[in-house]
Amino acid sequence: MSTTLEQTLVAAPEVRQTQMLIGGKWCDSVSGKTFQTVNPATEEVIADVAEGDAADIDLAAKAARKALENGPWSRMDARDRGRLINKLADLLEDNFDELSALETLDNGKPISDARAADLPLVIDCLRYYAGWADKIHGETIPVRGNYFTYTRREPVGVCGQIIPWNFPMLMTAWKWGPALAAGCTIVMKPAEQTPLTCLRMAELAQEAGIPDGVINVVPGFGPTAGAAAVKHPGIDKIAFTGEHLTAQIIMADAAQTLKRLTFELGGKSPNVIFNDADLEAAVAGTEFGLFFNQGQCCCAGSRVFVQESIRDEFIERIVSRAAERKLGNPFDTSTAQGPQIDQTQLDKILSYIDKGREAGAACLTGGNRFGDKGYFVEPTIFADVTDDMDIAKNEIFGPVMSILSFKDESEIIERANNTFYGLAAAVWTRDVGKAHRYAKSVRAGTVWVNCYDVFDAGAPFGGFKMSGIGRELGAAALNNYTELKTVTMSLD
Ligand code: NAI
Ligand code: MG
Repeated sequence: MSTTLEQTLVAAPEVRQTQMLIGGKWCDSVSGKTFQTVNPATEEVIADVAEGDAADIDLAAKAARKALENGPWSRMDARDRGRLINKLADLLEDNFDELSALETLDNGKPISDARAADLPLVIDCLRYYAGWADKIHGETIPVRGNYFTYTRREPVGVCGQIIPWNFPMLMTAWKWGPALAAGCTIVMKPAEQTPLTCLRMAELAQEAGIPDGVINVVPGFGPTAGAAAVKHPGIDKIAFTGEHLTAQIIMADAAQTLKRLTFELGGKSPNVIFNDADLEAAVAGTEFGLFFNQGQCCCAGSRVFVQESIRDEFIERIVSRAAERKLGNPFDTSTAQGPQIDQTQLDKILSYIDKGREAGAACLTGGNRFGDKGYFVEPTIFADVTDDMDIAKNEIFGPVMSILSFKDESEIIERANNTFYGLAAAVWTRDVGKAHRYAKSVRAGTVWVNCYDVFDAGAPFGGFKMSGIGRELGAAALNNYTELKTVTMSLD
């Protein structure tokens, strides 16, 4: 990394790319339409971006098909594919300052988070999958009779990838890494709120030498560009991250072409604190687990269950930490919390805060919009929350914590599992048995013990129940991007 954090206080990085990338060419949309992307900290327009629709998705799908079947990508040795993915990771590292600032500009996340979390995880993810490229292989299988049977793991094909706005670069890396390692080609639709870093990453992918048509990026809206990708007969698979209600539409739209689908959806993750926990660590982890990224995390620990005997002390400590969080200009390195992504999210969060108050929960800190410019919400904590309240059941996707209390271990699993979500869960205790009983019984794809939000490119991530289908990261994600072929040959 070329400069220190303090040297990086650039307010406005240059926006280099606002067109779409199809078949290696940067172009306007077929319709000529554009849409605005906005700086959520100031509500000012950053740039007009090419707005893709069905016609652009069609061109992108064809370019991706050509690259899959006829281009240099289809003939490239797997190890060389890995080398190109590594080269992309190197270029992201070379452009670390620009990319982290661009992410902060378009998304509003604090620059210190973009630099400490997003960018390093992006680079690590790509390097991890670069290493997989030449290690994806089949098996030989002893079958009855005089036959030789083996399997091949082939790329699933052209992949439509639809991502949200909360981690624009990281979601791009989670999608591109395993797809490229497996030899697939890509039609990417970034979120309409945050198209800029994905476009810049695509430019760097070109610079890295990833062949034309392997990565196509079509910015645009969900019901138009996104839906067109889901319905396109030339796209083999859709990987989607976002809301479960959108996933339901995608699943229905994908039925016609029987696309392979993987989903990474929302959550209402239980974070359980027993009275034998290291209290200070639990408080710090609980603050991070909910307020990180303005509460805009699919795995946010938004149901905080605290054992009764430590309830008052826990609440006192977490409330004072939340009240101390510094809100404001995300380019200020001391800022802990930036704005929410847009007016829609701001309104949704404020309406949940109203619902919490109306239901009789005690708002102990926060509870309001912060300032009158930018989509900021005060860090908010509700106590006396009960399992049936809206704020305990639904994903708020903002800086709003619900604290529930419990008596003992016997009730906690049933209450933790009393949700249609199953993405993540955490437990804080010094009792190893208790920790493992919880880890075994909670219905969630990820369980954190005495920590929260610990991510690694090698560790699979995804949801039980309505939090998703399939797993991202790790070797598991490669299954999303390969088809298994069985070859049997007579030895007679
Ligand atoms: P969304 O699920 O509608 O959007 C995510 C992506 O899907 C965007 O790229 C969008 O353009 C695309 N999309 C939307 N409708 C589509 C359709 N019919 N076909 C294909 N693609 C489509 O999420 P949104 O509206 O941005 O946020 C709504 C709520 O979803 C949030 O308040 C939050 O609760 C949840 N959410 C969860 C995320 C997660 O990481 N699991 C990320 C973002 C939002
Ligand atoms: Mg934006």
